[in-house]
Amino acid sequence: MEFCDLHRQYLEYQKEIDDAIASVIKTTAFINGPDVPALEKELAEYSGAPYTLACSSGSDAISIALMALDIQAGDEIICPAFTFIATATMVSIVGAVPVFVDVDPVTFNLDPEKIEAKISEKTKGIIVVSLYGQCADFDAINLVAKKYGLWVIEDGAQSFGGTYKGKRSCSLTDIATTSFFPAKPLGCYGDGGAIFTTDLKIAEKIKMLRNHGQEKRYHHKMIGVNGRMDTIQAAILRVKLAHLDNEIMERNRVADLYTKALNGIVDTPYVLEHNHSVWAQYTIRVAERDKLREKLAEYNIPTAVHYPMPLPSQEAFKHLGQGTDFPISNLLSETVMSLPMHPFLTTDEIEFIASKIKESLHV
Ligand SMILES: Cc1ncc(COP(=O)(O)O)c(C=O)c1O
Repeated sequence: MEFCDLHRQYLEYQKEIDDAIASVIKTTAFINGPDVPALEKELAEYSGAPYTLACSSGSDAISIALMALDIQAGDEIICPAFTFIATATMVSIVGAVPVFVDVDPVTFNLDPEKIEAKISEKTKGIIVVSLYGQCADFDAINLVAKKYGLWVIEDGAQSFGGTYKGKRSCSLTDIATTSFFPAKPLGCYGDGGAIFTTDLKIAEKIKMLRNHGQEKRYHHKMIGVNGRMDTIQAAILRVKLAHLDNEIMERNRVADLYTKALNGIVDTPYVLEHNHSVWAQYTIRVAERDKLREKLAEYNIPTAVHYPMPLPSQEAFKHLGQGTDFPISNLLSETVMSLPMHPFLTTDEIEFIASKIKESLHV
């Protein structure tokens, strides 16, 4: 059994994907080929964000977004204490300081009520992660941002395709980013990402920043990076985007079956009524997490921990001296574990996993 079975997915769309890759090879337009702007148009239509720029990864998407917002050395950016490290390391990469805020105990997303206490004169913006596929509370967060004149970036690396109050993830803030890492709900066959914005000027700047600050060939208006998406990845993503809604439906089927089987046995995930999750992860909470993982491994059931350490406790951020007073993030890092999750899991497989969890916990 695979944690995220990309092979099964490939077999499902094999001819379409093989044809898409072959067509790029035939044209040899490996960089900035026509599939890149075509994908950008489709992503914009899908997400509802008017301007969409494809780029080299979800991490680069965040750093390019920060460059587009003119982040300066020493600026402070609010980040959740419980997320994948790239959310905050990209802040450091551009010379700014991530200021960590604890997360909500129900959704595990940034807690809007804890933001204000961490705002200082140096604060410029807030990066919000929509963790495991469920959007954060953007109405509340955007309200705090407005009060203090801050911008908001949604790190939608795990939530592309999800909705918040009927609007799609990546269309809910000034700028949003996503990742097309292979195991993401919409993944390519290597690294890839995208940046979304409602602001034409910012979009034009991002376009230059991701291509060496170049306005036209060999004329560089600003300091930029090589953050382009490969044409082959764009061609693959176009195939997979057409199947995304169906895959999200299937991920919801899998999540519902897990919840039905595990309710009352472990702490199952909770999706708020106004959210529709894409279930990037199905993450439960168990007190004896490590023991349960070992037991499941004996039955070849793969599991993962997203994430075993809150960001302020990571060695990479120790120098910031922000302490360990992040009680929810600390608790989550000791108790969360993710179960196999992909659209092609069968009812039998889900029932097998659930039965082995019950057996291991002696219930
Ligand atoms: C929340 C979050 N932010 C950023 C990233 C970085 O994306 P990438 O791996 O495409 O650089 C990831 C990917 O795992 C992520 O989950």
